[in-house]
Amino acid sequence: MSAAVGIALTGSGSATPSRTVSNDELSLWLDTSDGWIRSRTGIAARRVATLEDSLESLASQAAREAMDQAGWTPDQVELILLATSSPEDLFGSAPAVQAALGATNAVAFDLTAACSGFLFALITGAQYIRAGTYRRVLVVGADMLSRWVDWQDRRTCVLFGDGAGAMAMEAAPHGWEGLLAMAMETDGRRRHCLTLSHHTTPQNLHEQLQAGSGGFGSITMDGQEVYKFAVQQVPLVLTRVLQQAGITPEQLDWLLLHQANERILAAVAQRLGIPASKVLSNLQHYGNTSAATIPLMLHGAVSTGGIQPGHLIASSGFGAGLSWGAALLRWGVT
Ligand code: COA
Repeated sequence: MSAAVGIALTGSGSATPSRTVSNDELSLWLDTSDGWIRSRTGIAARRVATLEDSLESLASQAAREAMDQAGWTPDQVELILLATSSPEDLFGSAPAVQAALGATNAVAFDLTAACSGFLFALITGAQYIRAGTYRRVLVVGADMLSRWVDWQDRRTCVLFGDGAGAMAMEAAPHGWEGLLAMAMETDGRRRHCLTLSHHTTPQNLHEQLQAGSGGFGSITMDGQEVYKFAVQQVPLVLTRVLQQAGITPEQLDWLLLHQANERILAAVAQRLGIPASKVLSNLQHYGNTSAATIPLMLHGAVSTGGIQPGHLIASSGFGAGLSWGAALLRWGVT
């Protein structure tokens, strides 16, 4: 049997709506304050989609940038995975991204795992490359939870923002490995901690047939439970992937966590003994963009030269499900 194919991470991209909403602006209609939000979360502002924005166009913009950075033409893309919990079509928004890119040879589909979505999609895409099924995969994380928060609920709406990020991933030159270890977990028994549920109302079609109709409500969250879950599970899953790869925390260049809360980033880093200078954060500007946080942060750090080819990055996503996972990545190819 031939050896499994290696993975190379060769491009990144991102896109956000242009409208910024500061904490002070939120306090125009909510009983909240800049001081409360900053001290509890590290968030100062977030981007909010207005009526001109669309999830599919942000996702397409991010994907195009990643594709261009990798040096691929649209016809070379073989798989597009769109991690999102807020598609514009419940049948899937990924085909719209495929069409916008003109990636006519690709297959495109959505993957839903809330804030773990990008990491789960990255791991899923890597399996297709390892198996030799596809050679070039675009992994996109995009969410617009501004459409799904209750803007009168100060416990949740202050946390989230909108955005998209993407990564180009391909079969590696011989001997190169960009995905050194990975793990994914879910615990459906704790799904009530963070939900966006369908509310079903009865529809009487005739005397003996009652079907359901309805729509989705808004996000509900037990903030303290989610916080405790994250600071317990994320260090454990990161330790597991580091051990799988035989890497120590000191060898890491960067810690790239799902951007949910500055205090969670600090607690996880402290547990692993990783200095604050290696912890990537853009929470201040974007808040929690759900499936987009990891590729949005990655692209920012690649663009400013923080993340360099060959750098070793430990990444972890976590959120509703409850779901969580980790991957040990080596950026670019040297
Ligand atoms: N502005 C002002 N006050 C607020 C507020 C806001 N935006 N949100 C909540 N409060 C109030 C509460 O009503 C409560 O008031 P009370 O004591 O009078 O009832 C008080 O602040 C403390 O609330 P609490 O929920 O205990 O705060 P907290 O310290 O747990 O912080 C979170 C709340 C949401 C910031 C924190 O629990 C958290 O970050 N959890 C993780 C959430 C997350 O990351 N989710 C996404 C995961 S993918």
